[in-house]
Amino acid sequence: MVFSVRTYNNINQIGLKELGNQFQVDGDKADNPDAFIIRSQNLHGKTFPDNLKAIARAGAGTNNIPIDEATEQGIVVFNTPGANANAVKEAVIASLLLSARDYIAANTWVNQLEGDDISKQVEAGKKQFAGSEIAGKTLGVIGLGAIGARIANDARRLGMNVLGYDPYVSIEAAWNISSHVKRVNDLKEIFAHSDYITVHVPLTDDTRHTFDKAAFANMTKGTTIINFARAELVDNQALFDAIETGVVKHYVTDFGDKELLGKERITVFPHVGGSTAEAELNCAIMAGKTIRRFMETGEIINSVNFPRVEQVLVAPYRITLINKNVPNIVARISTAVSDLGINIDNIINRSKGDYAYTLLDLDEDDRAKINQLVAKFEASDNIVRVRLIER
Ligand SMILES: NC(=O)c1ccc[n+]([C@@H]2O[C@H](COP(=O)([O-])OP(=O)(O)OC[C@H]3O[C@@H](n4cnc5c(N)ncnc54)[C@H](O)[C@@H]3O)[C@@H](O)[C@H]2O)c1
Repeated sequence: MVFSVRTYNNINQIGLKELGNQFQVDGDKADNPDAFIIRSQNLHGKTFPDNLKAIARAGAGTNNIPIDEATEQGIVVFNTPGANANAVKEAVIASLLLSARDYIAANTWVNQLEGDDISKQVEAGKKQFAGSEIAGKTLGVIGLGAIGARIANDARRLGMNVLGYDPYVSIEAAWNISSHVKRVNDLKEIFAHSDYITVHVPLTDDTRHTFDKAAFANMTKGTTIINFARAELVDNQALFDAIETGVVKHYVTDFGDKELLGKERITVFPHVGGSTAEAELNCAIMAGKTIRRFMETGEIINSVNFPRVEQVLVAPYRITLINKNVPNIVARISTAVSDLGINIDNIINRSKGDYAYTLLDLDEDDRAKINQLVAKFEASDNIVRVRLIER
């Protein structure tokens, strides 16, 4: 079986090679494709092709994709979390060092010197840029996911004491965090005991304005805040007040709100944390691998609208179903199978919100019976997508 893939936004060819020979990639010309691989292409207001089963976004954010519509039409949407984590980590480590020594102000100052005695002026004026070292200082990391965990580990290697806060840390991320990173259970401990704080959480109702008046009130004077996660995690007015009183020594962010530009003690980068050639390649490779695995095995890894489902395929046939999350659905599926005298080798049903995903491995070689079962599922009102995978 050959799968058709439509790509948008110039996806890195090395990433597309991950798809292997079973896939035909025809750029944006592919007619009625099985899958899309996209970067920033805006899919809002577009009609999905009937045959479309998966969309992979080579990157983290998926707000260019109408997720609810995709879900209702049985289309699994994937992203590539962590593929740009190393890029963001390096940007944050650079920001730590930049703010410790105020290299940017030093460079601006030296560039505006005039006259023939520059070295004299440099010697006379450089004292104002005597910084401090990060070794021995305390870094608080809020959010210990793909990015935060890497930063925590590397900051340790740079000689910092590291505090980490993440009540929802995944087991996978937790395994990767150095035992020297001290986990704290209260955000206040991060605020009270850190010289530097870096934040790596998604923007949610819970995390919006993590840095508000109360947070700044808990900090000691001279704290540096680094925000490469989302602008809205910081209440700007509260930040300005905290800078005024000396609580915040420096704010470094990757998000250029107008009101932050041109201000002393604030360094703004133009959302470049994840922008490296390597990150782009990693995203494309991860997107290619994810689509291949989903199309060939039905397994779902890193989806934003369906649960993670992994199961090695050993039975001759696997049917995957995207079904509405209604009562007794698993029993109804099992009955449909047993009514045809077919044995179930394995069944996994996982739900997310109003929909669920079912992997049904069948211990049956008779293709005619399998086709009958597929037709039965296709006729069901509660099932929006049926796929048959042959081992
Ligand atoms: N500047 C950039 O270019 C850039 C690039 C990539 C990601 N990001 C941002 O960085 C964020 C983190 O990325 P990631 O790849 O590490 O994501 P991730 O999903 O691997 O990690 C996020 C972590 O935050 C934790 N978390 C969630 N809510 C929390 C809370 N209330 N308090 C403490 N921890 C909480 C989660 O448990 C998880 O471990 C993303 O959500 C995105 O907004 C920015």
